[in-house]
Amino acid sequence: MSTFDAAPTALIVHAHPEPHSFSTAQMATAAQALRDAGYRVDVLDLYSDAWAPTLGREEFGPVEGHFKPQAEQQRAVKDGTLDAVVKAHLDRLLAADLLVLSFPLWWFSLPAILKGWVDRVFVMGAVFGGEYGLFGDAALAGKRAMLLFTTGGSGESFQPGGALGAMDDFLFHIHRGMLEFVGYQVLSPVVTHAPARMTDQERAAALDTVQESIALAAAEARTAVH
Ligand SMILES: Cc1cc2nc3c(=O)[nH]c(=O)nc-3n(C[C@H](O)[C@H](O)[C@H](O)COP(=O)(O)O)c2cc1C
Repeated sequence: MSTFDAAPTALIVHAHPEPHSFSTAQMATAAQALRDAGYRVDVLDLYSDAWAPTLGREEFGPVEGHFKPQAEQQRAVKDGTLDAVVKAHLDRLLAADLLVLSFPLWWFSLPAILKGWVDRVFVMGAVFGGEYGLFGDAALAGKRAMLLFTTGGSGESFQPGGALGAMDDFLFHIHRGMLEFVGYQVLSPVVTHAPARMTDQERAAALDTVQESIALAAAEARTAVH
């Protein structure tokens, strides 16, 4: 049974250190487009919340001997001893029908603060593993996820054969290795290329395009296979 039947919830996890960046404006535009499409929108702004991205031993209280992060995650889920901040983020993740990861592309990937959010919040035993399997058997199966990001490189440079290579190739580790791995059905990414080289007029037009793309994605998420 899809959770999209009632008013759906979108969780946007945003990672940009500058509140006046194009990425942050893009995130705000996407949030409004989702609200306009009938979503309840929850925004996690990792930099402004000073999110600590490192998964380490200290998160689990006293760990004797050899530290195995995923074993500790599973034990903490079972014992109800997950770190309070991680638990709060996990609850917001589990409550969301649609997850949007919002970021500037850094080294063909997520900024470290966002990668660390995945490390700590995609908890083994709670979103996959333990009583859950992987992919279609993972805890987030039936939900949707998508990437919303900006690049330094131009659109042409990311075409197959372009200087930076085909985007689908290097997004694989996020789409397959993180999102589908925990059960999500992945929607097409919304990307703005090279906002730093845009005029104010071009930036306004690019935000209009983001608004339209997110409206389409919101509709696709509601009608995607249940
Ligand atoms: C650490 C770092 C790594 C970056 N790596 C890439 C990259 O791999 N590919 C790319 O196209 N742009 C890269 N960029 C450029 C950013 O993606 C670009 O400046 C940003 O998306 C523009 O959006 P903003 O103005 O909202 O920051 C990188 C920037 C930084 C700071």
